[in-house]
Amino acid sequence: MTLRHFLADDDLTSAEQAEVLALGAEMKAEPFKHRPFEGPRSVAILSDKPTLRTQLSFHAGVAEMGGNPMLVDGRLAGIGVRESIADSAKVLSGHAAAIVWRTGAHERIEKMAEHATVPVVNALTDSFHPCQLLADLLTITERKDRLAGIRFGYVGDGANNVANSYLLGGALAGMHLRIGAPEGYQPDPAIVARATEIAATTGGSVLVTDSPTECVDGADVVATDTWVSMGLEAENEARVAAFSAYQVNAALVAKADRDAIVVHCLPAYRGKEITTDVIEGPQAVVWDEAENRRHAQKAILTFLDRAARGS
Ligand code: NVA
Repeated sequence: MTLRHFLADDDLTSAEQAEVLALGAEMKAEPFKHRPFEGPRSVAILSDKPTLRTQLSFHAGVAEMGGNPMLVDGRLAGIGVRESIADSAKVLSGHAAAIVWRTGAHERIEKMAEHATVPVVNALTDSFHPCQLLADLLTITERKDRLAGIRFGYVGDGANNVANSYLLGGALAGMHLRIGAPEGYQPDPAIVARATEIAATTGGSVLVTDSPTECVDGADVVATDTWVSMGLEAENEARVAAFSAYQVNAALVAKADRDAIVVHCLPAYRGKEITTDVIEGPQAVVWDEAENRRHAQKAILTFLDRAARGS
């Protein structure tokens, strides 16, 4: 029995990531076959930030696995405000077989994992969005039949949670990652260093550039995310100005491989980080990504639950 958590992408090894993705594909093919949470055993799904896909996909996914999804509004729970994170972790562990949490500062979820006696899953923090990455990797595999060697260009806010997860998760998958972001919004050198270190073991590579064109040149996958992540609304004006040359539009996508796909974790702001014609166009796979959240998350919950129960 090993208590494992999924707080950042590299909490899985490259082989484990592949195993989870294969399980996700299997669960997608037969959504009602795997019922590890039969009982029903409960999974707590808490959110301190806005959520649509996350609560839908975890709720539906846990139900499909025979479990009981317990949605908790973070504003009511007041974790770390009404009650310490440590105390909340112990209370939650007494009711749930796993804890899924969307919150702000990454240290908060690390503290939760430190005190929980059941697996903790990061459903987005300010630093990482590893469940989104699993969904994206599943989607890319469906379209491209492989991950290793895929040329991946992410344009926009290179310092946000999704970019960080692309760096770590993509490196684990052996992809060639390019981040195209303006100065001031490029990834933390520590994350780039970690991704580079991982890529050296998987055959992938990492490049950070301030040129959107260099970023997507010949890419198999073009990615972006909102310029203004949740909690940064006060910076809206400055960010829109800084990122205006980093829009994923038809001219930029034309620099990628002709069979390139376009991914976006959503919510999307049309006319800002991506144009309507691109997101509604034939190369975009964003609705598949949104659905694949459910399948990928079922797989990571099952993987962690198997480890915790020693099965
Ligand atoms: N970077 C975005 C992702 C939303 C799913 C945010 O944190 O708001």
